[in-house]
Amino acid sequence: MKRIAVLASGNGSNLQAILDAVDSGEIQGGAVTLVVSDRKNAYALERARIKGIQTKHQSALRYTSREEYDRDLVTYLEEQEIDLVVLAGFMRLLSPYFVLAFNHRILNIHPSLLPAFPGGHGVADALAYGVKVSGCTVHFVDEGMDTGPIILQEAVPVLEKDTAESLHQRIHALEYKLYPRAIDLWVRGKLKIQGRRCIIDEN
Ligand code: GRF
Repeated sequence: MKRIAVLASGNGSNLQAILDAVDSGEIQGGAVTLVVSDRKNAYALERARIKGIQTKHQSALRYTSREEYDRDLVTYLEEQEIDLVVLAGFMRLLSPYFVLAFNHRILNIHPSLLPAFPGGHGVADALAYGVKVSGCTVHFVDEGMDTGPIILQEAVPVLEKDTAESLHQRIHALEYKLYPRAIDLWVRGKLKIQGRRCIIDEN
């Protein structure tokens, strides 16, 4: 059974979708054993508490550098024997130290069709640019901002009446299907990385 840590800064609706997918058996061979947040009041922490899952709040305030923060967090994740780190709305860029410590064991979901519109405002940026199609991307995390090998990607049409909120809502609905699917593939050992490409090996 793979031990999964979810890192989240906010609402945690993707966390909820992952927890539901573990319950329903859609994710097999893995369980969320820890939820970490840099924000004390993140609702993601509450979602974990409701399910009786261990939580940790690690504020960035008492750290002077990103790496110092990450070193403490990596130590904790290793103590907890975490196999896979899942970023779900975690609003911090990971340092090279963290990425190396969990090489090919960190996933992220991003609300655009990468490599278009990386960063913290992917939905609003896509809308402002005037694209007709957007979507979401699950990818491995490397040292860049939303740049790692892509695991799964799906599109949604952008409607003329869309606001950033309405578009994000439709993207969210897609995320709740895509992220559990990608996590299930990872825990079952079905993902192979070849350079920038991630091959899904269903055999
Ligand atoms: C999602 O849209 C995800 O793509 C992005 O942050 C958002 C998190 O939402 N990385 P939630 O906290 O899971 O509701």
